[in-house]
Parts: sequence; C-alpha cells; structure tokens
Amino acid sequence: MVPMKQLTSELSIPMIGFGTWRLKGQEGLEAVRSALEVGYRHIDTADRYGNHTEVGEAIRASNVARSDIFLTTKVWRDRLRRVDVLADVDRFLLELGTEYIDLLLIHWPNREVSIVETLRAMEECRQAGKIKAIGVSNFTEKHLKEAQEAGVAIVNNQIELHPSFSQPALRAFCGQAGISVTAYSPLRSGDMDHPSVRDLATKYECSPAQVILNWIIRRDMIVIPQTTNPERMKENLAAADFSMTEEDLAILDSLPQGTRYNDPDFGEFGVVAKLAN
Ligand SMILES: NC(=O)c1ccc[n+]([C@@H]2O[C@H](COP(=O)([O-])OP(=O)(O)OC[C@H]3O[C@@H](n4cnc5c(N)ncnc54)[C@H](OP(=O)(O)O)[C@@H]3O)[C@@H](O)[C@H]2O)c1
Repeated sequence: MVPMKQLTSELSIPMIGFGTWRLKGQEGLEAVRSALEVGYRHIDTADRYGNHTEVGEAIRASNVARSDIFLTTKVWRDRLRRVDVLADVDRFLLELGTEYIDLLLIHWPNREVSIVETLRAMEECRQAGKIKAIGVSNFTEKHLKEAQEAGVAIVNNQIELHPSFSQPALRAFCGQAGISVTAYSPLRSGDMDHPSVRDLATKYECSPAQVILNWIIRRDMIVIPQTTNPERMKENLAAADFSMTEEDLAILDSLPQGTRYNDPDFGEFGVVAKLAN
C-alpha cells in the first residue's frame, strides 16, 4: 500500500510516483500504461520530456478515473514569464487531455526571470482551476527564499536525492517552510551498489532499490523512480511495504556524501543562501 502525503487541506499525493524522463513514443505510452496497470497513481512528467501526449493517452486508456491519479508536470526554464506560463498551461491541458494538473512545478530556476513573476502566473492558473497546487524543482534555499516573496503557497520542491546525496540542509529548510520534498533520480546514481545498501537488502530480504526507496519514504519524502520493466515497477511500488529499524535508517542517513548526478550547465546550484551552513 503506497502511503499518501498531505500537500494541502484538499490535496494528497501518493508517496511513490512513476517518473517518465526519456520515455517517449510507443515506449513511453507502454510504460505509463503498465505503471497504471500495476498500481501507480502518481505520474511525473514535464514539458521538456516531450511525452505529454503519451502520458495523457495512457491515462485515458486505463481503467483508472482521472480523479484517482495525481499528475505532475513542469514548465521549462525558458518559459517562465507570465505570458508564457499562461499559454503553456493551456497547451499542457490540451496535450495531456485533462481538465486540470494536480501539481505544476518550475522545472529549473532561471535567474534571468523573476521567480515572483512566474509563481504569480502559476497562482492565476491555480485560481482558474487549471492546476491544483504549485511547486518548484532544483531550487536551492536561496531560490526558495526569493520564491517566498511571491506570497504564493509552494507545496513541493523536487530535487535530486538518494543516500549518497541526501541534502540535509535543504530538506531541513523545506521542512520548516512547510514544503514537501520529492526525491528524483533515487536509483540512477549507483547507490544500489553501496555495500551498506546491499547488506540491508540482505537483512530485509528485499532489493537494493527497495532499501533506497523505503529510506526516502520513511524520511517523509515522496519518490518517483523510473523503469520500463513491469517487474521492477511492482518492486518499486512495494518499497513502502516493510519497515526498517531506526538504527538501519540511520546507517543510510550517514552514508558518505558524493556529487549530484544531474548537474547541467544552466543549473544554479552554486546559488546558496547567505544564512545556509
Ligand atoms: N526535476 C528534475 O529536474 C528531474 C531530473 C531527473 C529526473 N526527474 C524525474 O525523476 C524520475 C526518476 O529519475 P531518473 O529517471 O533519473 O532515475 P531513477 O529512477 O533513479 O533510475 C532509473 C534507472 O534505474 C533503473 N531501475 C529502476 N528500478 C530499478 C530496480 N528496482 N532495480 C534495478 N534498477 C532499477 C532503471 O532501469 P530499467 O528501466 O532498465 O529498469 C533506470 O536505468 C524521472 O523519470 C523524472 O520523472 C526529475
């Protein structure tokens, strides 16, 4: 059973979702269709992934009611002006074939556009009923502080996160600000091969992927693993079905920290808050 996390008084999100980066065309359609079939009720896409049409088609082809699916998408970093956000949200609804988006994120910050302008445009969309909640992605503490100036409720920050890149300071800031965290690329970085992860997988008779996903959920974060393999889809979805002890969770909390896997030239990770440790 996938636990739910409350984002607002009216909106909750399944804590395990299905990631769709690089899943396009027939492969994308089949992957999302299989994910819904095995029980995923939270799909993560983005304008940049170029698969809105496939995601929408898979949702419509499923036997699952739209209201039972949590759908996240993201506006790209060169479309953050008000006029572009308003136009893009209308286009997303058409491409996805849906009347609303559950969560709309700013995919990456772009220092050339005011975060306040973008968030206020997103808030217009929320008030028009086109999106249910507003979030961000790849935001540092500095970006989040700037975002708070918009006076718009930000419910989520989607960031790269796995045991060897666990971002404790940013998580603490998000926690204090009432912003939930979604962990992306939880498996891709190679943590599945870490000896501590492997030892815990042996102890709990589960897979290394499940150890990582379980740790993320127990630490009260949402996670969006991706796979094209239906058996792995099920395996990842079942990652919340057991409990590791606090001592074992703490082993993963204290793994040596490495570097991020997703580090594009346009990323603004060097932008840290003056008050950050
Ligand atoms: N906001 C952002 O900027 C951002 C950036 C990156 C990603 N994301 C989102 O996060 C999602 C997930 O991140 P990601 O795609 O980078 O990586 P990921 O989910 O961490 O890893 C995917 C890789 O792990 C393998 N895998 C999945 N489940 C497995 C299992 N149980 N056992 C062994 N291998 C397994 C997959 O291979 P197979 O397919 O062969 O199983 C694939 O190679 C994306 O799809 C996207 O929705 C967001």
